[in-house]
Amino acid sequence: MTYKIAVLPGDGIGPEVVHAAMQVLQRVLAESRIAAQFSSHLLGGAALDATGVPFPSETEAAVTSADAVLLGAVGGPKWDTGPGHLRPEAGLLGLRKALGVYANLRPVKAFPQLIDASPLRSEIASGVDVMIVRELTGGVYFGSRERGELASGERFAYDTMYYAEREIRRVVARAFAAAAMRRGKLTSVDKANVLDSSRLWREVVQSMQGEYPDVTVEHLLVDACAMHLVTRPQSFDVIVTENLFGDILSDEAAVLTGSIGMLPSASLGDGAGLYEPIHGSAPDLAGQGLANPLAAILSCALLLRYSLREETAAQRIESAVKQALAQGARTKDLARAGDSVLTTEQMTEAVLLHL
Ligand code: IPM
Ligand code: MG
Repeated sequence: MTYKIAVLPGDGIGPEVVHAAMQVLQRVLAESRIAAQFSSHLLGGAALDATGVPFPSETEAAVTSADAVLLGAVGGPKWDTGPGHLRPEAGLLGLRKALGVYANLRPVKAFPQLIDASPLRSEIASGVDVMIVRELTGGVYFGSRERGELASGERFAYDTMYYAEREIRRVVARAFAAAAMRRGKLTSVDKANVLDSSRLWREVVQSMQGEYPDVTVEHLLVDACAMHLVTRPQSFDVIVTENLFGDILSDEAAVLTGSIGMLPSASLGDGAGLYEPIHGSAPDLAGQGLANPLAAILSCALLLRYSLREETAAQRIESAVKQALAQGARTKDLARAGDSVLTTEQMTEAVLLHL
């Protein structure tokens, strides 16, 4: 069997980190005798420039027939002024929707070698190991919206945070399953003191609790959660939350471990999975060869784990990254005063060396 992997380099540092990650992935696949066929497609600003739309139908056809999708990042100042549906981000949302990847897994794990890079004191940041499960295809990102003008001429706009019970249940089920495999704690985050969609969310979580007797459930309001993430990050195991809250909390959680440049993500539904570093396109860094490729490389480990079910190969990548860090390999974002700074290519070499 030959796996089909669709690769979407995207914009900014996307192509650079995807190129790096592909070298690692292809090496591991070859050495593990796993056959895979790669194809590259346009998404985001790159697609807008070439075709006039951010998620071309050619790309849609390729990703929906693939076994897994590897994405770099989309977006950049060049495309920031277009109307909503002609922005690179609309391509990303279209991609998520087309793949039906409703559960976005963002593991945030402190690397002991990088603890000094965390903005938190090391006694708070060390040992942090949180899995954020963010609902990805619903909520205010996809609810009905409108812009208009009142009779007075004043402009208005609204977006709707809509959830059907089924949308909540399926992502929460994934989170419960993840918690059961980990330390058995699930934190469900909502704004149930204000929002009806959150009250429904909480009721659904409560109704499912009995199916997972080994998992302890904690409910937190999103504002409190934002605070607890920096005061007691070690107390979290799995966090599950709706799309927008998850977007915000996962960026906050990402810096706990030192650099957002380290964090991979997996977006899962019932078909092909989507794998991307969470750092975005970093336009200011693009083209310099200095981006940290580790988040993209670690995203390939998740691809092997969740889509190809090749756990051994996934762990080979993860341990090679740990060893490279242990040997002192640092890109610009990770370097402290006195460290020598590696380029994207050199960091990739350091990982390849330890495979
Ligand atoms: C993310 C990003 C995206 C999101 C943007 C680029 C649309 O911030 O993956 O977290 O908001 O989902
Ligand atoms: Mg985000």
